[in-house]
Amino acid sequence: MSKTYENLPGASGKARFFRPSRYEAAEIFSGRPPRLVFEDEVFDLDNISARGAGCTSRKRVDDTPYAAPGAKGVLKLTQAGRELFLGAARKARHITGPGGVSAGFELEENSFDLDWLIRENASILARRDARPAEIRDPSPAYKTFCADTAAFIGGYLQRINKFVAPIEDRLGENERSDIARDLANAAEAEWLNILRDGNALVGKIHGDKQQRIGYKSFTERTVTQMLLAGPGWARCLFKPAGYPGDYKIMNYGYEQKPEGDTVAQKFLHLLGMIASRAIITRMEVIANLISEYALEKHAQGGEVSITSVGSGPARELEDILEATPRDIRWRVTLVDQEPAALDYAFDRIARFKDRDRLQVSGLNISFREMLRPTQDNASFVHNDVIYSSGFVDYLNPLLAQRFVKRLYDFVKPGGRVIVGNVNNRATGMIWPLEYITDWSLYFRNEEEMRAMANEIPGAKVSVVPDPMDAIYFLVVEKPLD
Ligand SMILES: C[S@@+](CC[C@H](N)C(=O)[O-])C[C@H]1O[C@@H](n2cnc3c(N)ncnc32)[C@H](O)[C@@H]1O
Repeated sequence: MSKTYENLPGASGKARFFRPSRYEAAEIFSGRPPRLVFEDEVFDLDNISARGAGCTSRKRVDDTPYAAPGAKGVLKLTQAGRELFLGAARKARHITGPGGVSAGFELEENSFDLDWLIRENASILARRDARPAEIRDPSPAYKTFCADTAAFIGGYLQRINKFVAPIEDRLGENERSDIARDLANAAEAEWLNILRDGNALVGKIHGDKQQRIGYKSFTERTVTQMLLAGPGWARCLFKPAGYPGDYKIMNYGYEQKPEGDTVAQKFLHLLGMIASRAIITRMEVIANLISEYALEKHAQGGEVSITSVGSGPARELEDILEATPRDIRWRVTLVDQEPAALDYAFDRIARFKDRDRLQVSGLNISFREMLRPTQDNASFVHNDVIYSSGFVDYLNPLLAQRFVKRLYDFVKPGGRVIVGNVNNRATGMIWPLEYITDWSLYFRNEEEMRAMANEIPGAKVSVVPDPMDAIYFLVVEKPLD
């Protein structure tokens, strides 16, 4: 209900003294605010209003003789070497702290035209070539490959625009999805060849950081731009949760539905789904390995304790229940830093037909907590199996080794640690993940997988691939005492 004038409260306390609205510079300038220069002093712009600005400088204080509060001078805003504003200003505040300097400025005569500044800043950034000069160009063969790939995708988009877009208004959601599925089926064989070629081409240079940067930059300016209208590609590239591989992205991969509004968006999304099918085979292999363990060690039934680290949506639990008889019950611990992922997993589990065979607890902690020798970690001891898929791929070799060793310490004699990691083969996902969507992982070969168990003498170590040969699983078995 609308409030009457006499009931509108206004502000109280200090807030009664009105100041023109101040905006976070990073927010209104799309993460790349202009630089603020006052005479010879250079600052990063933190916030701005029509009449003034707040900023910081992390430079060592003794390097620069800063003007004192009250000083008057010329204030400039610049972006990529271009001047956006120039006017007289007064330094209203100057505070020196351990991290650098914080300063505030007030304009003397004119004011900032914020709408114009925002527009002009965006326009300069969009016009400029953001590549540092030292970025190396990819090989001609790779450039040709990207051009051919863009033409392949563009051919489909061209036909969609010509034949489907004119009648799209008349189509319902299901009809659009059906057309997109038909198109993706038609494209599949060639798209799979392209993915394989891409994996093979980048596999050769991936170990060379400079070349990798050049290849990624070129891919993002060509192939990625063709695909971004597909919601899955966009989520992978922009990572709206703030990190890659959030449970919503994982669910795209598990569900393989044609997401998006238009036929073109749905089609592009489905190309991404074809590229990410190994997510499903990875989940199935994990479920198999765990079920086999249970059938082998608990042939007479009983309770099996398992823990998933970086559990995400924990989709494998359904398959595990299906693959094992009713007299096998499961005590499950799900560890994930993302509460929404645990919420989602618990909601799904609540709807399982066989949920009475599961006793599930969730731990909203970082895996780093598990590495610490604290009392809280007692709950992990005596697990039959501790597993982790799509997680150790983010850990550097040393940390991965520590992680696997720690999990191994937790499992009981006769128990197993199972860790799934993307591989670096042409049958894998290195090109679409790392190069198209800047989803950086450790793509490990068999030797690097084994190396994760280097610190575990006496264990039986094996590495097995998934049926698509895109993922490797490290299986570390603890001998019976
Ligand atoms: C790529 S997903 C894999 C999810 C699941 N294992 C699967 O295969 O579907 C990685 C998961 O690790 C979680 N994660 C990321 N960093 C973590 C950390 N430091 N500690 C615990 N979990 C973390 C994320 O929240 C995400 O759910």
